[in-house]
Amino acid sequence: MHSFYTHCRDSLAAIEAQGRYRRFTPLQKQAGRFPLYLRPDGSEVLVWSSNDYLGMGSHPVVIEAACAAAQAMGAGAGGTRNISGTSPAHDALEAELAALHGKAAALLFTSGFVSNQAALSTILNSLPGWQVFSDQRNHASMIAGIKGSKAACHVFRHNDLAHLEALLRAAPPDAPKLIAFESVYSMDADIAPLAAICDLAERYGAMTYLDEVHAVGMYGPSGGGVSERDGVAARIDVIEGTLAKAFGCHGGYIAGDASVVDYIRSCAPGFIFTTSLPPMVAAAALASVRHVRADASRRSTLFERAETLKRRLRAAGLPVLPSTSHIVPLHVGDAALCTVVSRRLLDEFGMYATPINYPTVPRGEERLRFTPTPLHTDTMMDRLVAALKAILLPEHRAAA
Ligand SMILES: Cc1ncc(COP(=O)(O)O)c(C=O)c1O
Repeated sequence: MHSFYTHCRDSLAAIEAQGRYRRFTPLQKQAGRFPLYLRPDGSEVLVWSSNDYLGMGSHPVVIEAACAAAQAMGAGAGGTRNISGTSPAHDALEAELAALHGKAAALLFTSGFVSNQAALSTILNSLPGWQVFSDQRNHASMIAGIKGSKAACHVFRHNDLAHLEALLRAAPPDAPKLIAFESVYSMDADIAPLAAICDLAERYGAMTYLDEVHAVGMYGPSGGGVSERDGVAARIDVIEGTLAKAFGCHGGYIAGDASVVDYIRSCAPGFIFTTSLPPMVAAAALASVRHVRADASRRSTLFERAETLKRRLRAAGLPVLPSTSHIVPLHVGDAALCTVVSRRLLDEFGMYATPINYPTVPRGEERLRFTPTPLHTDTMMDRLVAALKAILLPEHRAAA
């Protein structure tokens, strides 16, 4: 047997022994009953871990737009954007996203992951001597983009302005510099100090690249993200986002200066050499972005729901981790226990919450991650709190 086969089997056995083996949980979304999903046996499951943060994936306006576009234009795009894969839906969506962020231009990608990977590697392969400053907790897609370039990478401690400044100060003064960071860190549930990072970028002549994947649609008066909420969008060179989370559809994008966006459009292999988003997805996303920009009701309910869940979990004596965002993390601290709690929630209580284990978070910081949406009711929260008390409090007592 080839040594690679042995390597695969041994590695998988080690992952399994550490309680980190990932098993998919088959759950079927029900458009009319979100956040209630179906299991293969036909039973309903209350899902607490969807990144369809506003439930827009099931909004009638979005479903109608997808169906109408599929009827009119068919299922797939049929080509890359350069080879018969540009539809009016793509162009209109890019114009809408540029307007959402107050930027001159936007560019669609087939996912948020691809947008980060393609945009960052293209920027950082453009000039000699790039120095990139990357937050320690940045998403794998940003790290993939940075690693795919020849830039010198300086990792700063998570949200640590003093460390970032020390690294900027030590870098060659005339080298091109870029600070790459997120606004909402979805595993830590905290938010970066955007204005202070922009101050440092200006002081040291660095460009700013901001991933707003977990913020677009939810933060800011029109859902333009934390950069809109904090009034700093104009100070960010490139804003990256997804259509797959709060907008409930699929795809990723960047928004920025027209020549920067056009350069990436013209040079990024991850844009040029792949079939474009299906027009029906672009049309659905366009309907979603337009709706969310114009109507803040789901946005405001989201934050009320998240704060209510945090309060209720805390009142029940459950170890809620600090969160300044809409994400509600619950400390478990052990990979095997995290997996067990998630499985018991599903099998005994008909609810689903993702266990978050290493390498997504450091060892010892394993957690369950809840994302209450505007459609999670008080009664649903009562069910969750009662189930977690029944599962987790005895487990913690036994471990103590
Ligand atoms: C911070 C961050 N950026 C980018 C992505 C990738 O986005 P997408 O799911 O659209 O590929 C994710 C996905 O979870 C993410 O958490």
